[in-house]
Amino acid sequence: MCGVVGYVGSKPATPIIVDGLKKLEYRGYDSSGIAVLDKDGLKVEKKMGRLSELEKALTGRELDATIGIGHTRWATHGRPSDVNAHPHTSSDGKIAVVHNGIIENYLQLREWLSSLGHTFKSETDTEVIPHLIEHFYKGDLVEAVQKTVSHLEGSYAIMAISVDQPGRIVAVRQDMPLVVGLGQGENLLASDIPALLKHTRDCYLLNDGDVVELKADEVIIRDVTGQVVQKEIFKVTWDAEEAEKGGYDHFMLKEIYEQPRALRDTLKGRISHTRDKVVLDEIKMTAKEIKNIKRIVITACGTAYHAGLVGKYVIEQMVRIPVEVDIASEFRYRDPLIDKETLVVVVSQSGETADTLAALREARRRGARVVAITNVIASSVAREADDIIYTWAGPEISVASTKAYTTQLVAIYLLALFLAQERKTMAAGNIKEILDELKALYSKVQEVLDNDQPIKEFAEKYCRHEDAFFLGRGLDYAVALEGSLKLKEISYIHAEAYAAGELKHGTLALIVENIPVIALATQQSLFEKMVSNIKEVKARDASVIAVAMQGHTEVEKVADQVIYIPKTHPVLAPIITVIPLQLLAYYMAVNRGCDVDKPRNLAKSVTVE
Ligand code: F6R
Repeated sequence: MCGVVGYVGSKPATPIIVDGLKKLEYRGYDSSGIAVLDKDGLKVEKKMGRLSELEKALTGRELDATIGIGHTRWATHGRPSDVNAHPHTSSDGKIAVVHNGIIENYLQLREWLSSLGHTFKSETDTEVIPHLIEHFYKGDLVEAVQKTVSHLEGSYAIMAISVDQPGRIVAVRQDMPLVVGLGQGENLLASDIPALLKHTRDCYLLNDGDVVELKADEVIIRDVTGQVVQKEIFKVTWDAEEAEKGGYDHFMLKEIYEQPRALRDTLKGRISHTRDKVVLDEIKMTAKEIKNIKRIVITACGTAYHAGLVGKYVIEQMVRIPVEVDIASEFRYRDPLIDKETLVVVVSQSGETADTLAALREARRRGARVVAITNVIASSVAREADDIIYTWAGPEISVASTKAYTTQLVAIYLLALFLAQERKTMAAGNIKEILDELKALYSKVQEVLDNDQPIKEFAEKYCRHEDAFFLGRGLDYAVALEGSLKLKEISYIHAEAYAAGELKHGTLALIVENIPVIALATQQSLFEKMVSNIKEVKARDASVIAVAMQGHTEVEKVADQVIYIPKTHPVLAPIITVIPLQLLAYYMAVNRGCDVDKPRNLAKSVTVE
């Protein structure tokens, strides 16, 4: 999983490519590199570590080029190192390649190429690509790339440049994102739109198998059959500013504070003016198809999976259809029971998560209709699903997902209410009550954000602990799982979430003096039970911070500290409850001096299995 950028035009290519790579660091950041063509030939610089290492290495190097390709890496085949970093080059040193994806048959190809006299320097799967291009090159780089990819098994977004064909980048994609940016006398390529926005808002979205020949004044795209195709220009309407930090110390904090706006945007146009009906025109199912749904399966990874867990409670309650939630990486390997009466809902912020995409394909192969909930327009998940509910969170840069989660919850509520309305499983009055509350949510989320002082204090006091526990029942348990994931991924504190009723079946043995316990008690019907569970951990001298709805003051008698969230319909509470948990994880991580936006070993978009 990596990010790629290419530039050809009249300006110095190096700073443009490095700047583009900065916008793609969320795709991986264990090493980076660049290759440019100047009057003296091919120049390559690559470095292990953050992009700043590459920048240091480039300082003082004379790279007088107006064409080049760059790469930011997240290691899959071969550890992070200078030599494994991209670009990789051919034996004769004339061709350079960057690649995002995995070449599954690289070992066979490497053996074959070695037998022909090619020598390899790295441990990567990618290195076979420039050697194959070299092997097939007979004076036309496009043809050589086409022949090369016909020998590749796997997924890729590849860009190649050659000393013998200066002035052009040849690129191809298969199951990996790649976008063309169209400029005036210059053109660009990148894994994702934020890397292009400084230069253009006009893009071509590519299909699998498309081969691009990118020159300063011309872009030629051939489809998988070799035919030249005319693409429609896709205009990016969102602002480059949105992808910047906007005055916050970290993207994560900015994104946490963007949630009221993101929630409002995701709801916009999806509730009737009289607030009694969900309007989900993007769901194209007929009334008969909706009536025929017998089961719903939600599949996703990580935070998106946690959103799916909330979905199970909500959809079962509102629509009275059995819902299963499955981790996408498990789903496709267990011969899932899916048929055309199953509705599969895939949830993915990026829309590029390899396991989620594979689960989607598996579900479709088995005849299910697939609804995608995703944040990225024209992402792979969006393109392959039958119906798409976009979450209008805007670009999420921080590795730790925040606004994507809460907007995914909104999309799930809307889907549940829509199905309930179509299948008539809820009274109109109850639907209206929830819709009214949904509309009121963003100001309530803002209220929690405005009251972050107690969370900051708790974080300061407990940030040196190495363990923490999150407890909850019902919907609070689903949120506890998300709170615990947030804390561990950015602060490296070992955190566990438990259904509070499970405590005495083993976990209580881990509760020791002063251990921080975050107890969620927002669900009215389970409140008394939760209070008992808090007492159980207090009896073992844990330090408890509880999250409860305003008015439930009894919790003060058992917890050390209480964060009150504004009252809302219990079913919607997760959207508000998660906010203090996101802030807690953030401030814990900041107090521990962690790199909040780029936690170790993680990348934003997991496009490999
Ligand atoms: C955690 C986090 C990850 C993602 C997961 C799925 O904060 O962000 O757990 O939720 O990798 O990613 P998407 O939603 O892009 O499929």
